[in-house]
Amino acid sequence: MKNFSAVILAAGVGTRMKSPLPKVMHKLSGKPLIKWVVDTVSSLKPDNIVVVLGYGVQKVEEYLSKIDVKNIRIVYQKEQHGSAHAVMQAEKVLKNYSGSILILSGDVPLIKKSTLSSLIKDNQKANCSVGVLAAEVVNPFGYGRIIKKDNNSLEKIVEEKDADIAQKQIRLINSGIYCFDKNLWKALSKVKPNNAKKEYYITDTVAILKSMGKTAYLTITEDENEVKGINNRIELSQAETFLKDKKVEELLESGISVIDTNNVYISYDAKIGKDSIIYPGVFVGTDVVIGQGCVLKGSSYIVDSKIDSGSTVSYSYINGAIVGKNVKIGPFSHIRPGSVLKDNVKVGNFSETKKAVIAKDSKVNHLSYIGDAEIGENVNIGAGTITCNYDGVNKHKTIIGSKSFIGSNVNFVAPIKIGENVLVAAGSTVTHDVPSGKLIIARSRQELKHKRNNVK
Ligand code: UD1
Ligand code: MG
Repeated sequence: MKNFSAVILAAGVGTRMKSPLPKVMHKLSGKPLIKWVVDTVSSLKPDNIVVVLGYGVQKVEEYLSKIDVKNIRIVYQKEQHGSAHAVMQAEKVLKNYSGSILILSGDVPLIKKSTLSSLIKDNQKANCSVGVLAAEVVNPFGYGRIIKKDNNSLEKIVEEKDADIAQKQIRLINSGIYCFDKNLWKALSKVKPNNAKKEYYITDTVAILKSMGKTAYLTITEDENEVKGINNRIELSQAETFLKDKKVEELLESGISVIDTNNVYISYDAKIGKDSIIYPGVFVGTDVVIGQGCVLKGSSYIVDSKIDSGSTVSYSYINGAIVGKNVKIGPFSHIRPGSVLKDNVKVGNFSETKKAVIAKDSKVNHLSYIGDAEIGENVNIGAGTITCNYDGVNKHKTIIGSKSFIGSNVNFVAPIKIGENVLVAAGSTVTHDVPSGKLIIARSRQELKHKRNNVK
């Protein structure tokens, strides 16, 4: 494949999304639509990626400035007069560029790398001025239709709103992805807004280039899912379902059980080890790695976390955590960012952890809050124990040494350090450090008093 540059059209308002958020910032499987396109294109190593921004430019620009992708240039389309008008904004960057120009829509996220490289190669091989990526779809409503001549050569593209009854029957649609040579700029200057929407359509360049005696070419993909555009919430939700179903199938094939495939959500990027079992009601979001033989029971929500093999999660919410082997979480635990639960740890019923490193074999089984803490190995935290980590201004740390036994309903007023093998009596409010090997009782003594006569 010879050199190419990409132009991603992402300035449209996205009216049909009915949202103040720019369409390309809506997330598909946790990742903004624009990022799907940018990731796929950049994997082909283009010379430049020019992104055309307009509506909601600040939000998109801020997002793009944070992602780690090379060669991104942003151009602005202040008023949105159509897809051709959007491409014109890239002319100042690419005018003297001699390679191919790949144009993509920011709202067609599932396009495959291999299909893009076929489109570019077809175009460079045929030495034509425009290659259009097309697909035969079941429901062509809303798409531009591909009009071919008798000899099967591409003649023009007609938009839904401009199509007559016969043209609307055509199921071969324009994907909104094209590969041009440098004649693009000349063709663009000839586009007129003579259509139902009074916009400058990039699709009109096909007929214009033909009239200039240039060649137009079709590359057809067999997979209609990869060219589906996202214009409204229904299409967004259909794309989610498509991705999720594909992922679940992949997992089933690789030796993972999913008990009810219609009642789970698993992100496209989740990595789950063999022999794990996923019960109904489980949500696995982005950046999740789960080891072998894990059991995930509903309703659980797991995102941005790593869980090692043999662990069980039931009815719990896990975000930003690192979990070791054979750990038991739940039912009803909240494992918050910065939690590190080492091998064999148990965090049970209605317990919450945050920025807490809990070493192996320790237990936090009932109704506890362990925040900003370091808990040693083989520690038992009794029911209702709380780390009082916040003084209203700053957060403070609780350190508990290995083999300590914490009775029920204990408060640790941080900063505080409890040594190893300490026994803390139930109901204690511990305010000072405790050395290793001691028993500490920090509660008021029970008193036995006589009843007054008038009290029953
Ligand atoms: C477009 C195509 C249609 C194709 C479909 C595939 C045109 C005229 N039609 O229709 O043939 O079947 O995509 O999904 O191109 N944009 C701008 N500035 C604008 C207008 C649009 O940047 O002034 C961007 C949008 O952000 C979007 C892309 O261009 O990423 C396509 O625009 P959209 O309004 O979604 O066009 P469709 O109706 O989907
Ligand atoms: Mg669209």
